Amino acid sequence: MNTTEAKEKINKLSQSLREHNHRYYILNNPTISDQEFDMLLKDLEALEQQFPELQDDNSPTKRVGGDITKNFPSLVHKHPMLSLGNTYSKEEIMEFETRVEKLLEDKVTFVCELKYDGVAIGITYVDGKMTTAVTRGDGTKGEVITNNVRTIRTVPLQLIGEGYPQEFEIRGEIVLPKSQFERINRDRIAKGEPPYMNPRNTASGTLKQQNSSVVAARGLDTFLYGIYSEEKIADGHYESVMKAADWGFKIPNPKKKMILHCTTIDEIMEFINYWDEHRKDLPFEIDGVVIKVNDYDRQEMLGYTSKSPRWAIAYKFKTERVSTRLMDVTYQVGRTGAITPVAQLEPVLLGGTIVKRASLHNADQIEKLDIYINDYVYVEKGGEIIPKIVGVDTAKRTNNAQKVVFKNTCPDCETTLVRQEGEAQHYCPNQYGCPAQIKSRIEHFISRKAMDIDGMGPETIDLMYSQNLIRDYGDLYSLQRSDLLQLDRMAAKSVDNLLLGIENSKNIPFQRVLFALGIRFVGETVAKKLANHFKTIDALSHASEEELIAVEEIGERIAQSVKGYFIHEKNIETIRDLKFAGLQFELEESDAPKSDMLSGKSFVVSGVFENFSRNELKAAIESNGGKNVGSLSSKTDYLIAGDKMGPSKKVKAEKLNIRILSEEEFVGMIGGNENKNY
Ligand code: IVH
Repeated sequence: MNTTEAKEKINKLSQSLREHNHRYYILNNPTISDQEFDMLLKDLEALEQQFPELQDDNSPTKRVGGDITKNFPSLVHKHPMLSLGNTYSKEEIMEFETRVEKLLEDKVTFVCELKYDGVAIGITYVDGKMTTAVTRGDGTKGEVITNNVRTIRTVPLQLIGEGYPQEFEIRGEIVLPKSQFERINRDRIAKGEPPYMNPRNTASGTLKQQNSSVVAARGLDTFLYGIYSEEKIADGHYESVMKAADWGFKIPNPKKKMILHCTTIDEIMEFINYWDEHRKDLPFEIDGVVIKVNDYDRQEMLGYTSKSPRWAIAYKFKTERVSTRLMDVTYQVGRTGAITPVAQLEPVLLGGTIVKRASLHNADQIEKLDIYINDYVYVEKGGEIIPKIVGVDTAKRTNNAQKVVFKNTCPDCETTLVRQEGEAQHYCPNQYGCPAQIKSRIEHFISRKAMDIDGMGPETIDLMYSQNLIRDYGDLYSLQRSDLLQLDRMAAKSVDNLLLGIENSKNIPFQRVLFALGIRFVGETVAKKLANHFKTIDALSHASEEELIAVEEIGERIAQSVKGYFIHEKNIETIRDLKFAGLQFELEESDAPKSDMLSGKSFVVSGVFENFSRNELKAAIESNGGKNVGSLSSKTDYLIAGDKMGPSKKVKAEKLNIRILSEEEFVGMIGGNENKNY
């Protein structure tokens, strides 16, 4: 193929991929399968590699990231990025409406929008191509993060349709959907890392990542809310936003009431009330609604203050907040030794549930709150499940209040805590002697996604530990029936079940055994990567730091942690015991994916099944290239429903248009009995 032919082919492929991307991410209406999409993308990648001179910064291949940006240059905004006047009071919204109409001496129309809780971005397009993406920064100048924004699927890299200005800037908010936030935190917890605080901070941290492929994997989304152009696009904001949809942008859906063009204060109030009630059902977080005068000429007439436009106002939702007494601060020890302070509260009703505890995150947070035992503290429930303390009612502080001083010894083994430079968390360094760490490592080892041993809750582990039956997860495999029968609350049937679970766990494949070991930073995905690469525990344990880093997605931090694990004599001994017991420490041929027929598809497995355990079904999904996800979201493709699945799951799946499969249907889908040997 010569260069001209290649150019033509690249153009054609890019055009087709752009259309399919738009259909999938913006219109929610794909016409080809994910596999077909991937094949087109691979063809394009191959051509670009063969003809590097034909590469384009806005090629659909840039969506997966990979570019490294060492530092982000600043750029002065053409139009300053202002903020919005805001209020929590509905009266002030009414006053805004009357003030505007009085100043203009006329009735006006308004646009109501959601106030997305994310990170503001300004994206410039020249001749239909994205050129730069800049953060808000200080409002006057921001940071150029173009490569990172290119990986967000809902940002068009090349516009479609016609009539867009030759050069313009589009502004909007980058948000991290709740489902992605939860997924990221699940992964972090599995790796022994502290979870992130909220979706907004996580989105902001993600956008500052130097490696754009990390950004690509995070699943960010965008909504636009403003267009700045010298050329006139339309008479008003609403019409401009609708036009932007024709050019390929993701805009709020009017049919889902996410944007409203209206004329009366009653309609504005209805919009506010509707979203105050329904915001919990949205897949991303909002912190209020924004009301804007629609007509551009009238916006101009109203003008700006030094900080914000006079033609717009934000109504912020009140987060439910209660005040209660802080009775004590206790400390939890994680399996990696991370210490988390927990506020013990006088029970109080918040958002329909009784709250007794709140996370205090770390020592800095305690310092920042300047909190005392017996203080009355304000507790809020944000998007997260765990409530948080947002402040202290210092007026109510009494004489018996005692300042909370972060513990300097481990609450369990009393070893002096350490805190590494640059880390927020304190750690107990007594990895192999601290009972709390040992017990929670055992809990992790037997957990569902690891060795999947049923019948041993935290209390049983506690009991076995205190009776000296287990000192490590390696000891599980030498437990005797007679020892277990002596334990309180362990009936013969439970003992047999537990022993059976332990026996069955010997068939768990290598990558899950590796995850079960609980090496810091080695979560499920990393364990899989390492197992696939090194194939055996011996090869892995002898790998040098350089060899580890050479594996895709393994960085210095993980490499050091893995090396550190295998240096320790205690761990070598444990692995020897586990090998002797018959656990899988080598990758079996059959562990590698059997097919990729489910590639790109995500599944939720729920309920009890006739022929398979939940984990067997999950293994079958993975060995055919599919992905298991924890909860249903608009991105889930299938729900495999067994007996005893809660009715709410079914309702949610139907609402999200997710296909529900029975056990048989799923087995049929992956090729029935031929594929039985997953
Ligand atoms: S309009 C001239 N509309 O809120 C003001 N902003 O507090 C232009 N935001 O920096 C902003 N949703 O990051 C506008 N529908 C929306 C918004 C929105 C979220 C953010 C934006 C802005 C901040 C102002």
